[in-house]
Amino acid sequence: MVSSPSCTDTQIRSDIQQLDLIAWRRYLHQYPELGFKEHLTAEFVDQQLTAWGIEHQTGIAKTGIVATIAGDCPGPVLAIRADMDALPIHEENAVPYRSRHDGVMHACGHDGHTAIALGTAHYLAQHRHRFAGTVKLIFQPAEESPGGAQPMIAAGVLQNPQVDAIIGLHLWNNLPVGTVGVKSGSLMAAVDLFECTIQGKGGHGAMPHQTTDAVVVSAQIVNALQTIVARTMNPLDAAVVTIGQLQAGTASNVIADTGFMSGTVRYFNPELAPVIEVRLQQIITGVCQSWGATSDCRYWHLYPPVINDPDMADLVRSVATSVIETPTGIVPTCQTMGGEDMSFFLQAVPGCYFFLGSANTERGLTYPHHHPQFDFDETALATGVEIFVRCVEKFCKPSVR
Ligand code: NI
Repeated sequence: MVSSPSCTDTQIRSDIQQLDLIAWRRYLHQYPELGFKEHLTAEFVDQQLTAWGIEHQTGIAKTGIVATIAGDCPGPVLAIRADMDALPIHEENAVPYRSRHDGVMHACGHDGHTAIALGTAHYLAQHRHRFAGTVKLIFQPAEESPGGAQPMIAAGVLQNPQVDAIIGLHLWNNLPVGTVGVKSGSLMAAVDLFECTIQGKGGHGAMPHQTTDAVVVSAQIVNALQTIVARTMNPLDAAVVTIGQLQAGTASNVIADTGFMSGTVRYFNPELAPVIEVRLQQIITGVCQSWGATSDCRYWHLYPPVINDPDMADLVRSVATSVIETPTGIVPTCQTMGGEDMSFFLQAVPGCYFFLGSANTERGLTYPHHHPQFDFDETALATGVEIFVRCVEKFCKPSVR
């Protein structure tokens, strides 16, 4: 009962053009909510799915939703993941759909991701004859922090029915609209976090011999930590160690008693997770010992790297090639040290996460993600739906028994 995609190619596109993608995105943009507080967002998704008669479950991992759409005959189960949360940023755009929640903004495009997933759900529910098996749409909370993917997996969203593979996308202002960034293997980095308090011995600024200067010790630690990437790691493995916070001291003539630093560590190779953590602890402990200071460090592995399955990346690439229709539209050099908790889904089942180009220089839509003036070219929304729909039709073929 699955009709040939080629005979209805233009029909798919015109059907998708009928969807209210931009209106949905602009509504969501006006009411951004932080992680695990996506109540209005979830209510909107719930209302739309209910209106369209799509089976779904709300309240998963607090504000998450999973919609299940069965095709006309048995087949594989493909999940599509969209994140729904916004950021603690005050919007500086003067657009009619500007955020109405002061200090909160969809500055990463997750409003667009939710609209694309809704559009995909609507299309699939109306075209169940065009795919076999089941599509699960996972509307996930709290991607930015503290992470909603793990709690959703723990709540069983990849079971009943068991998900065979997963796809997801991120609108991407690092790429122009009309392009798709897709690659096999590592796409985004692991995200680790550390905090460290240095305990020295304070005193008079003119009498250093009576003290253990926490400023000097901290400064040496900051420099020494840079050697993790430069001297500990294989230079063919990319990584970043960034100390984003450094605090010590209270006055110009007082030697600091304590210092505090925090930072983030990024890398693609999962085997580096213990290596970098151990080396970081060794350096901090060693530098402190050499000065008679002590340290108290904490290290967290927040998100693993986003690693795409080669077959699923091939699927997305071939579909995106047919949708984009320009030879230069598929960008394989799209790796980034940014992180994403889509990685947890990709650890559980094979899948592909990809970037949907959304910048438009002529229209001034070039601000980076997480900037108070971030906005994107909304024509990308329909492209996102079309890629998802065609991935479903290509992946969810009837089982041969
Ligand atoms: Ni994001």
